[in-house]
Formats: sequence, C-alpha cells, structure tokens
Amino acid sequence: MSSEVVDYKGQVEAVREAFEREFGRFARFRDNEESESLALDEAEGLLRELSDVRTRHTAKKSALSQLMKLIGRVPAEERARFGQSVQLLNNYVVESLDKAQAALKVRIEFLQRERERVDVTLPGRRPRRGHLHPITLLRQRIEDIFVAMGYSVEDGPEVETEFYNFTALNIPELHPARSPQDTFYTTDGLSLRSQTSTVQIHAMQRRRPPLRVIAPGRVFRRDTPDATHNPMFFQLEGLLVERGINMGHLKGTLSEFVRRLFGPSTRTRFRPSYFPFTEPSMEADYSCFKCGGAGCRLCKGSGWIELGGSGMVHPNVLRAVRVDPEEFSGFAFGLGIDRMCGLMYELDDIRLLFENDVRFLEQF
Ligand code: DAH
Repeated sequence: MSSEVVDYKGQVEAVREAFEREFGRFARFRDNEESESLALDEAEGLLRELSDVRTRHTAKKSALSQLMKLIGRVPAEERARFGQSVQLLNNYVVESLDKAQAALKVRIEFLQRERERVDVTLPGRRPRRGHLHPITLLRQRIEDIFVAMGYSVEDGPEVETEFYNFTALNIPELHPARSPQDTFYTTDGLSLRSQTSTVQIHAMQRRRPPLRVIAPGRVFRRDTPDATHNPMFFQLEGLLVERGINMGHLKGTLSEFVRRLFGPSTRTRFRPSYFPFTEPSMEADYSCFKCGGAGCRLCKGSGWIELGGSGMVHPNVLRAVRVDPEEFSGFAFGLGIDRMCGLMYELDDIRLLFENDVRFLEQF
C-alpha cells in the first residue's frame, strides 16, 4: 500500500505561482496589449527578458516540463485529472507568453517604423553654394579682355627645366635669379618655375609665330610669407610675336587693357627697366583706380599703381626657339594677379587669399 500522499494538485499550483510571480510584470501586455507608453529601447529590453522567462518556465529542465514527465508515473486513478491540470497550466503559460510577446513586437515594429518615417513636408537642408575664388574671378576678367583682343590662353608646366626657366629666357648662368635662395630646386636641373615667362618659350615652340598668347598660372619663389609676399602666387604672362611689332603696340595694348579693366579714364605711364628677356624693358604703371591719380592710401599717395614688367622680346629669346629676329619682333609683359587682387579688394594681407577660410572667401 502506498502510504505516501502526494499532493499533485499542490505541485501544479506551485509551478503556476512561480510562473505568475515572474510573469507578473508582463501580464498587462497579455491582458490588454497595454504597451503604448513604452519607448523603443524599453520594449526591446522587455522582449529579451520575456524570452528568458519563457526559457526558464518551458524549457526541458523547467518545473513545468518536470510535471509533464510526471504524468506517466502518477497512479492511474489520479492521472487523468493531474494530466488535465498540467495540460491546462501548460496552455496557460504558453498562451500568456505568446500574447505578451506579440504585444511587445507590435509596439517595437510600430516604433521602428515611426523612427524611420520621413516627413516629406519638412524643409530640406539648404546646400551651401560655393563660388569662384577671388583670384579666379580676376583671372577670368583679365582673360576675357585679352581674348577679345585676339589672344589665346596658354598653359605650361609648374616644374621646369633650367632651359625654360632661365637659359632660353636669356638669363645667364651667374644671374641672381638662378640662386637657390630665390628658386625652389627639386631634382638636379629641375625647379618650380619662378615666373610664367617660361610659357613664352613653350608657346613659341608649340605654335610658332605669328602668335598672341596669355599664360596665367602659379609661380614659386623662396620668399618668407608676409602681408605682401607668398612663396606661391599667380602671374599672367603676355606674348605677342608678329612681323613689324614695335614699342607703340606694347604701350597701346597695355593702355587698352587697363582701360577695359578699370575704366576708360585710366592712364598709363612707362618707366625704363631691365629684364634679361626683353630689350628695351619697362615697367608699366596705371593711374590709381581709387583716387583717379590724385593720391590716396591705396596708391601710397603717388596716384600710380604698378602693373608689371614688359618690353620688346630679346632677340636671344627668339633665337633660342629658332625664330629669326630679323623677320619677327614682339613684346611681352607679366603681371601679378594676387597683388592686383589684393589692391582691388583692399586686402591688408594677401596671405588671406590662400588660407581657405570660408568666412573670408564668402565675401567675394
Ligand atoms: N617675369 C617677370 C617677373 O617675374 C615679369 C616680366 C617682366 C614678364 C617683363 C615679362 C616681361 O614678360 O617682358 O618679374
């Protein structure tokens, strides 16, 4: 006779109570899907915890599974009732877990969709529109003037051989322009061009006279940067080689150029000078665009602003590219774009042009 009285009903109740204790905080989602107040991370956290609860209460080693296994060992007369109550408990546990899980998933999906929703009626972020650099703006204005006078725009390399930077331009071996203190030498025999005059040579080799070209571009010098110097700056070279060209053509061209750039009342003056690649050479000045020549702070009281160097192409330069100086003559000029830009916009420091500070560049 089995004297053991096993409280089967009590065992089922104990398992139910243990489940309810842990499931308690999820019950509200099961009963009325009350999950609307949950934030996304809360709901996701609860879903993970719920899955742990499911493992603890339904997995193979759970108390509920133990009860299931027990069914077969319960005395026949109690088996049906016990089996039924275990089955009911199992249904209840699984259904509770499923319902709470479903409610949480609905909430999570809703919040995820909400997060990804795009309000197409919101105004977009305006792109910041850029514009051309002040040096480019001025370069283009100058190019337009010369192109209208029949010039083509030429380009040349920034790394040059001694032939193009010096020899062909009639700059002799011992000329100070060749000094490492003035020029950036790279590999033997090569240097960064210190002037756009190098393009005179390339242009004559490429096109052969008669020709009219301008060559804007970067040049490099070993200068310590200060308010009026940069080791890299922009020049614009001009070269015209045709038959029967004289100094009058040069003066007329530069005079017309400054009139078109600064206005029809702009005057010019020419001072004798020296450059190895021109003979005779001169410096060109134009009347100050600010005071009209009366003298102001911009022109340092003189009424004149320096335009650049110029002159009649030296016969040796023509010979260097096998052009007959008896047949052709020409003039050349070179001006500094940065310096002109600095004056026109009244910059107290031309280094600003290359600092790439948008607060400065936006003003043009
Ligand atoms: N290359 C000269 C310089 O950098 C400027 C110059 C002077 C250019 C006279 C010329 C010229 O074409 O004829 O200072």
